[in-house]
Amino acid sequence: MRSFVLREGRLTPGQERAFAELWPRFGVDYAPQVLDPGELFGNRNPVFVEIGFGNGESLAAMARANPQRNYLGIEVHRPGVGHLLLKLEEDRSSNVRVMRHDAVEVFANMLPAASLHGVYLFFPDPWHKKRHHKRRILQPAFIDQLARVIRPGGRFHAATDWEDYATQMMQSLTEADQLFENTAGTGAFVPRPDERPLTKFERRGLRLGHEVRDLVFVRRE
Ligand SMILES: C[S@@+](CC[C@H](N)C(=O)[O-])C[C@H]1O[C@@H](n2cnc3c(N)ncnc32)[C@H](O)[C@@H]1O
Repeated sequence: MRSFVLREGRLTPGQERAFAELWPRFGVDYAPQVLDPGELFGNRNPVFVEIGFGNGESLAAMARANPQRNYLGIEVHRPGVGHLLLKLEEDRSSNVRVMRHDAVEVFANMLPAASLHGVYLFFPDPWHKKRHHKRRILQPAFIDQLARVIRPGGRFHAATDWEDYATQMMQSLTEADQLFENTAGTGAFVPRPDERPLTKFERRGLRLGHEVRDLVFVRRE
């Protein structure tokens, strides 16, 4: 059961070029083999992962604002990945790596235990029909994976404009109380953290009059 349906869409000529020329610089191919983040980034700076970065604007902005941190972006949508590659070239970025693969498999097979300082999940596909809820990425099994790869003191930050998904996330994370502590206090959402740039899907949600909710949890020691 995947959390996405691939609608490939056409690549612009710029995005085609990005895959040909920039993938060797920024791209990481999927292989069911554990990564060494130090080797991947060429340094031991803290590593943050963004799951489902869409067009990558938020990831690029966070990477620009925090050059002393490393970022790994994981997204399945090719045009979005191409868009980010072009942005990284423009920014002359050196602290971002990109994967085009199912994040669930990347977490399960490639990320070492306690290797991340933070994971971002901004506006995940809401799968709003009840019969599709099982496709939502934030399930208890995935929370266990998050707990495995986030180091003690590291953070998981999610945002959504779908009220019932926010409620479900809150419930599942609260149930994982031995693993994660809510930074806002039990059951509470946090005010929009400054570090989260406005994303494309957030703008869309706001246009539709949706309220945005942020959840920030810390991996317990
Ligand atoms: C609603 S969009 C939000 C995009 C972006 N975060 C934003 O706020 O603009 C959700 C994104 O997650 C991606 N996605 C869904 N499941 C994924 C998975 N298992 N691995 C990687 N990307 C995934 C989709 O391709 C889509 O681009």
